[in-house]
Amino acid sequence: MSRNKVSIIGAGNVGATATYYIAEKVIADLVMVDVEGGMTRAKALDFLHAGPQRGYDVPIVGTNDFAQIAGSNVVVITAGIPRKPGMDRMDLLKVNTGIVKQAARAIAEHAPNAVVIVVSNPLDIMCHVALRSTGFALRRVIGMAGILDSTRFRYFVAEQMQCALSSVHAMVLGGHGDQMVPLPRLTTVGGVPITQLLDEPTIARLVDRTRKGGAEIVALLKTGSAYYAPAASVAEMVEAVITDRKHLAPCAAYLRGEYGINDLYIGVPVLLGKNGVERIIELTLTEEERRQLAASADAVRKGVEELNTFYKPT
Ligand code: LAC
Repeated sequence: MSRNKVSIIGAGNVGATATYYIAEKVIADLVMVDVEGGMTRAKALDFLHAGPQRGYDVPIVGTNDFAQIAGSNVVVITAGIPRKPGMDRMDLLKVNTGIVKQAARAIAEHAPNAVVIVVSNPLDIMCHVALRSTGFALRRVIGMAGILDSTRFRYFVAEQMQCALSSVHAMVLGGHGDQMVPLPRLTTVGGVPITQLLDEPTIARLVDRTRKGGAEIVALLKTGSAYYAPAASVAEMVEAVITDRKHLAPCAAYLRGEYGINDLYIGVPVLLGKNGVERIIELTLTEEERRQLAASADAVRKGVEELNTFYKPT
């Protein structure tokens, strides 16, 4: 029986926490790669020591050797620097482009059949870097962000409604930035849209808090950005791909005309399966929702234009 293998590039807070959450699902052998080999080996050993207590029984390798990702079904790129207070995700563009490009080149060399999940910021732009530097098919390079933004929205709705988290489903489209597009009309509690359960000012407050969810944590942490919820979102995507579950969730996908957007990564609902993006789901949006999505796409496009001023794929 062939075993599934998932590699995580970058063993910082997001990468290490994602490794732990994926280990607990017991769906794949794991490899963490980071330029800091000693730290990465230490974290892998620490996870292994916890296995007997936590009930996961999977090999976890920590290494600085990219060749160890060979044979991976999924590779997650979390490497890069995080935001500090006062920084926009775009402030990370130059530094993280170099880091993501190196990771993508290594994936193309050592794991040419993998599905790639991009997590590094600025997310939507880093998807373009990973796509171009791997040379992979569009559907095999996906960005994690819509699940994170919608999990935050779900939490804020449940907190407001004083209801079970599991009853709340949320949809957030757009780029992973201040102009993301939470959709109250398609956010439900037990199937009932929140537009029927909460008044407009309350919904507007929850939407605003969702948009600024990452920044709220950066301001409090001071030393970096969120990692538990981002890592949990990565684990959900990895599980959907490994188990070929055709899970519907918002992810950054490369659009070619869907939603009237061309040649751009942006968050839209997709079906996730073993090939990555199995299908892009095109929702019928209201005029206002379309306008907001177009504005978010314009912001991402500006980032890609900036990327194009200095970036070479190889
Ligand atoms: C966030 C960062 C990681 O939204 O983008 O928390």
